[in-house]
Amino acid sequence: MEYSEILSWLKERDTDKLADLFTQADIIRKKTVGEDVHLRGLIEFSNICRQNCTYCGIRAENKTVHRYRMSMSEITHSVTQAMDLGYGTIVLQSGEAGDRDFDYLKEVVCYIKTKTPCAVTLSVGEMETSQLRELHELGADRFLLRFETSNQQLFEKIHPPVASRTSNRIGQLRVLQEIGFEVGSGVMVGIPGQSYEDLASDIMLFEKLDLDMMGIGPYIPHPGTPLGQEFLSMKPGEKIVPNTMTMTLKMVALTRLHLPETNLPSTTALETVSNDSGYENGLQCGANVIMPNLTPYAHRKKYEIYPNKSCSYEHVEILHNRIVSSLARMGRTPGYGRGDSPHYRVRSGALRKDFSS
Ligand code: 5AD
Repeated sequence: MEYSEILSWLKERDTDKLADLFTQADIIRKKTVGEDVHLRGLIEFSNICRQNCTYCGIRAENKTVHRYRMSMSEITHSVTQAMDLGYGTIVLQSGEAGDRDFDYLKEVVCYIKTKTPCAVTLSVGEMETSQLRELHELGADRFLLRFETSNQQLFEKIHPPVASRTSNRIGQLRVLQEIGFEVGSGVMVGIPGQSYEDLASDIMLFEKLDLDMMGIGPYIPHPGTPLGQEFLSMKPGEKIVPNTMTMTLKMVALTRLHLPETNLPSTTALETVSNDSGYENGLQCGANVIMPNLTPYAHRKKYEIYPNKSCSYEHVEILHNRIVSSLARMGRTPGYGRGDSPHYRVRSGALRKDFSS
């Protein structure tokens, strides 16, 4: 699909035409990644962060946040839960702690890789190349680092530099690929100041970076952040791209059509803006992954990157059963196992391009 076609779909409002777009994405999803929906156990192991992203509730300057880092026994408990539920991947997510949590992180990766057959995904922000290599050598399989928006000026506004560190997320995505990680990125939809052209360019950048997975979620204003305050004081006419379910679904569907062999999660932010129907809608518009939250309840409220995060208080088994029943309703199956993206398997030489054979 050309940039101009993507752009005109992003601006499309005709619900019949959009229903066609979503159906096309669903057909392609079925052909390329099948009916399996991979469930990844998400552990938000720490909310300690050195960054000051203007959109994010756990930014360093938010002094109302109670900072935590899970103990090893809490990690063991959450990992056991993931195993009991049959999940094949554990996602370790945190604020960006840099060197501070590095030894701890190595210990957690080692524990999971020696005690379980699970794939490990890291979502811990920017790190030194040598540290990324070390984590990969210890067995970490995947890394998620959203570039948030391809508009450099907007990125600098929402991700201001801290001390003398300049951010280079695109550079890190390239390094991760060279090291051998399966690499994911993603964006937010409806950031104040973001245009339709920016979103079309985001999809072009997914392609250029040759990514294996992309997380796409609506921007949700957090009143305790500078961007949240700006958003809440904007007049309706000042908002260009809506931060809605439909707008996010358009991005998911177009990404599936443009990059058919990638893994696309139906995100918690999508679920949050859609009154608990977002997971299902995302899965029907091209997505094939869900990341149920396994963070201990005692810590959930402290990982409030945006308010009213869906599933925050839902018991792990209840959430799991809700997801599995909704998959059954849609004729989909839980994809237990590692669930690598076909794109990665081709890129890393494990699978021939013709994966229908
Ligand atoms: N609204 C939506 N998504 C957010 N994230 C962080 N804060 C918000 C917010 N207010 C997303 C970012 C980040 C991911 C871990 O969570 O895209 O990369």
